[in-house]
Amino acid sequence: MTTALNENNVPSHTLATGLGGMGLPPVRVTAPFTAVVFGATGDLTARKLVPALFRLWKGGFFTAPFAVLGVGRRDKDDARFRADLRDAAHSLAGVEVAADWDRFAGSVYYHRADFSAAEGYADLARRLGEVEAGSGNPGNRLYYLATDPDHFPSIVEQLAGAGLLTPAAGQPWTRVVVEKPFGRDLASALTLDRHLRRFLGEEQIFRIDHYLGKETVQNLLAFRFGNGIFEPLFNRRYIDHIQITMAEVDGMTGRRGAWYDRTGALRDVVQNHLLQLLALVAMEPPASLGADDVRAEKVKVLRSLVPLRDADVPRRVIRGQYGPMLIDGQDHRGFRDEEGVAVNSATETFVALRAEVDNWRWAGVPFLLRAGKRLPRRVTEVAVEFKRAPTGLFTAPVRGGGLCDRGCDCGATCECCNAGVQPNTLAFRIQPDEGISLSFAAKRPGMRLALGPVRMEFGYAESFDKPVPEAYERLLLDAIRGDPTLFLRSDEVTAAWEFVTPILEAWERQPAPPFPNYAAGSWGPVEADRLLSGCEREWHQSP
Ligand code: BG6
Repeated sequence: MTTALNENNVPSHTLATGLGGMGLPPVRVTAPFTAVVFGATGDLTARKLVPALFRLWKGGFFTAPFAVLGVGRRDKDDARFRADLRDAAHSLAGVEVAADWDRFAGSVYYHRADFSAAEGYADLARRLGEVEAGSGNPGNRLYYLATDPDHFPSIVEQLAGAGLLTPAAGQPWTRVVVEKPFGRDLASALTLDRHLRRFLGEEQIFRIDHYLGKETVQNLLAFRFGNGIFEPLFNRRYIDHIQITMAEVDGMTGRRGAWYDRTGALRDVVQNHLLQLLALVAMEPPASLGADDVRAEKVKVLRSLVPLRDADVPRRVIRGQYGPMLIDGQDHRGFRDEEGVAVNSATETFVALRAEVDNWRWAGVPFLLRAGKRLPRRVTEVAVEFKRAPTGLFTAPVRGGGLCDRGCDCGATCECCNAGVQPNTLAFRIQPDEGISLSFAAKRPGMRLALGPVRMEFGYAESFDKPVPEAYERLLLDAIRGDPTLFLRSDEVTAAWEFVTPILEAWERQPAPPFPNYAAGSWGPVEADRLLSGCEREWHQSP
């Protein structure tokens, strides 16, 4: 077990700009602003955005007046909106709404509008003016697009048409947060980008990937470049392969079925969250922790991903869809039975793929990615598996037809049969139970020189006495402060789509596997194991 050394009681929110502010005094928002949330009646607003703003306010991060203006199509007034948000926040663990909520909610308003109709924006301008006059805000605005992505282009165009966007370098400031996925493929992402850039400067566009707001994801950089021990080993000489897993227990929550059926796991989480994790674990040390230097290094990794050709896709990308299953006496629906999902849906709810980063550091090292809904456990982690020790000193190969205890077909001289000598694995647990573990071999107590696997553990909860802030808190704070480091630059999004789009296109041309092909509550289709070629590799499972 490790303990935090000399933490200096530095609060968690301590950035200046970029990631380099660790250790500086806490950051506050000192100028008034209004957060205008499009898609105000959706799940994201109720479950993530408003609770994050509430916590920031409660934590003292807003020292100037602020307002939240929700824009939605449903008919509600301010009081109804506040009550609905309160109920939603109340049901979330960790949000203590009771005493402070009403004071916070006094700054929350609702405006009903049809996102696509120009007339609605004149009304919105009037309402915004009223709200801002009440809080002395000169017009600093953070527009948050939390609607169906189909509405993004018209919302921005209409905002511009109604004079609600200020020029990039102008005052008061205007910033637009664009939720993911940014486009459906390379062509649509480029079109969306061009469209946004007609009305906004790049520095006004905050493309969000909430994984970058997670402390444990930022810790990938802190761990790699803030310590001297591991970085020299982070390359093809010492690393056998890297696994990135994002497993979810939930299937379709809320009203997501129809949207997910049009989207699928590859677009929903691989194009963004998993490729961002890959970029962070594989990138070179940046010249500084400033926004452009960090993002430039990530782009280089994404651009070095080896493109998958049609013929590679069936071997290197496994897709799955969950079917029904009885778990603990409870009947769990298959994807096709979820509300809003087509009965013959061919959408994937699971993807596993084998990627390669073709640069000097990583050539030949497989990056194995998998993500899925309705898996047995909620876990996101990055597992870095090192090469085995070069000598067979401690291995006891099974010879002459002995059985390999992994049940694989590796032959009689398989080294992996010595269960005592496992490869070292450095596992970054992104969530839950946030932390890092390093496994290695140690001598088992006893008269024989036999080895057994052991682990060194670092857990956020045990090592630091502060709760880990929610990703959206950090990201909203950064967007309001105008720090884009943890948001995606246009070229990052493009590079990620350049890798993902050929897979989507190959899938369109190739027959889908017979869906459903994994049972709810299982680890996905068995074909995913094929990606781990050879008996010495298996999917990592944190205990
Ligand atoms: C979202 C996806 O981006 O991330 C969801 O759209 C997914 O499908 C969610 O469930 C998972 O986020 P987290 O933070 O719970 O891992």
